[in-house]
Amino acid sequence: MSDPTIDLRSDTLTSPTPAMRRAMADAEVGDDVFGEDPTVRSLEERCAELFGMEAALFVASGTQGNLCALLTHCRPRQEVIADRGCHVVTWEVGGWASLAGVTMAAVDAPRGVLTPALLRAAAKPANVHLVTPHLVWVENTHNTAGGTCTSPLQMDALVDAARALGLRVHVDGARIFNAAAALDVEVARLTAGADSVQFCLSKGLGAPVGSLLLGGADFIHEARRVRKMVGGGMRQVGVLAAAGHAALDEIPPLLRHDHDNARLLAELLSDVPGLGVDLGLVETNIVFFDLAPRLGPPTAFAARLEERGVRVVGFDDANRCRAVTYHQVTTDDMRRAAEVVAAAAADGLS
Ligand SMILES: Cc1ncc(COP(=O)(O)O)c(C=O)c1O
Repeated sequence: MSDPTIDLRSDTLTSPTPAMRRAMADAEVGDDVFGEDPTVRSLEERCAELFGMEAALFVASGTQGNLCALLTHCRPRQEVIADRGCHVVTWEVGGWASLAGVTMAAVDAPRGVLTPALLRAAAKPANVHLVTPHLVWVENTHNTAGGTCTSPLQMDALVDAARALGLRVHVDGARIFNAAAALDVEVARLTAGADSVQFCLSKGLGAPVGSLLLGGADFIHEARRVRKMVGGGMRQVGVLAAAGHAALDEIPPLLRHDHDNARLLAELLSDVPGLGVDLGLVETNIVFFDLAPRLGPPTAFAARLEERGVRVVGFDDANRCRAVTYHQVTTDDMRRAAEVVAAAAADGLS
């Protein structure tokens, strides 16, 4: 029998653990649109406490959490300041423009980490010709920058700069638990001073569905109406929130291992002729590698890897492939994946 495929396309490929499935089967439920699902309520309370925020809202996905944040914070003709590579800028179907009616001041932040200087340069002055800057968008960890982290001190400086400019701050913390594990701090320390946070249960934390939006009580009260407007009011959704509880119990201590695996993979790939890996960017569970022109476009290279039992995502526009680790891939998988990539690269080079 051939080895099973090693699927490194994303940390969304986790499947629910036995503990999650048990929790789902046993979940106490009610109608959450009536505010009567005890499992959702306890998950929201737990997460608000974990992040030191007043309130939380269980939403279907990271995209829905970010969209609810945009629609709650902003009005049309206001502007969001974000790194150009942020997920919301490109990978959320342009909801910021088509649904929230805001503009995006997209800046080039080294390593995906915004700085006060970048913020000050991007914040437009009051002028009849201009949109009004309103919200600063921090993505931590930053996916397309390579899983890089914004540290507590960098965050403190950003929050201070945003306050001085009269701006609010949202953290897209889809992988904030990875940042916390890498920096050895509590998640609340990474979001201190932010007005809102979205984090995903369904990435490295391994739950099948769900994100939390967190913020002040008034903000979450309004975001709950917004969630209903965008079709996110769910009924006996405690069956999903229960998996979120189990994920929070089980997975955070395992994330460091995912980071060790990513580092191992990155180091092995950095020795492969024809591949380029910036090891300095590998802080968490994401590894990007670029390709010598002889290896062909990344999507075609990824297709060749798939034939050999390893799946990654190829991005032709950026000439690179992405591999992501999670708790259900092993250190042996890293070694085997690196061998497969090396063999495919050697074939491509011949
Ligand atoms: C940084 C970041 N934010 C938001 C999202 C959106 O999450 P979802 O796929 O749950 O909508 C993703 C998805 O990969 C992401 O990487």
